[in-house]
Amino acid sequence: MEARYGPVHALHGISLTVDDGEIVAVLGANGAGKTTTLRAVSGTVARRGEVVFDGRRLRRSPEAAARLGIAHVPEGRGTFSELTLLENLRLGAYTRGDGLEENLERVYGFFGWMRNRREQPAGTLSGGEQQMLALARALMSRPRLLLLDEPSLGLAPMIVREIFGIVRRLNEEEKLTVLVVEQNATVALESSSRAYVLEAGRVALEGPSDDLAKDEAVRRSYLGY
Ligand SMILES: Nc1ncnc2c1ncn2[C@@H]1O[C@H](COP(=O)(O)OP(=O)(O)O)[C@@H](O)[C@H]1O
Ligand SMILES: [Mg+2]
Repeated sequence: MEARYGPVHALHGISLTVDDGEIVAVLGANGAGKTTTLRAVSGTVARRGEVVFDGRRLRRSPEAAARLGIAHVPEGRGTFSELTLLENLRLGAYTRGDGLEENLERVYGFFGWMRNRREQPAGTLSGGEQQMLALARALMSRPRLLLLDEPSLGLAPMIVREIFGIVRRLNEEEKLTVLVVEQNATVALESSSRAYVLEAGRVALEGPSDDLAKDEAVRRSYLGY
């Protein structure tokens, strides 16, 4: 896959695979191309090369990706701050009008605190709560593949652990497949089975997360010990 923003060549031909039921992490410094990788998959940036989902070549359009069950939680969350928590969740279900109540109950099963906060404007939630709402909204579409862009951004370590704990539960209980982009390599490697390290729009390293966590270059550059 390749991607450009005008003259900026953001991805220089990267190739990655996510197997059904896996959590795969993409690590890398600021500007390495992590966000662009997710955008290229969900069709929100022009790309060259192909994305194959379930053995079928995906058309490059966000609608086509959403229809096939790919949900993208962008960097910066993208919740609607003037709308209530519940209205945000309802928007997430736009492709599935049926079974809304049941779907809400399913999501409250992962985020119990939301049940009594439905009428709260999203903009008045804490940063961690907004990140959870963004995740919950994506879940309302019952995705098969979740693309998560830096869920830890700006959040306290305890909240980051809580969010990754929920991602792991979703993976175990709903067999949700996850491609997560992170600068927080520690938590991302703990939560994933495989990972890719991007450098300047190329895959610099890839392998089982346990192996990468032991890799000296990864430790020095991304784990800081
Ligand atoms: N909208 C944009 N217009 C121009 N250049 C962009 C845009 N978005 C990202 N880039 C550039 O593309 C490269 C990769 O960016 P990005 O995928 O956002 O990296 P990361 O998510 O790893 O921090 C960077 O050099 C960045 O400056
Ligand atoms: Mg990014």
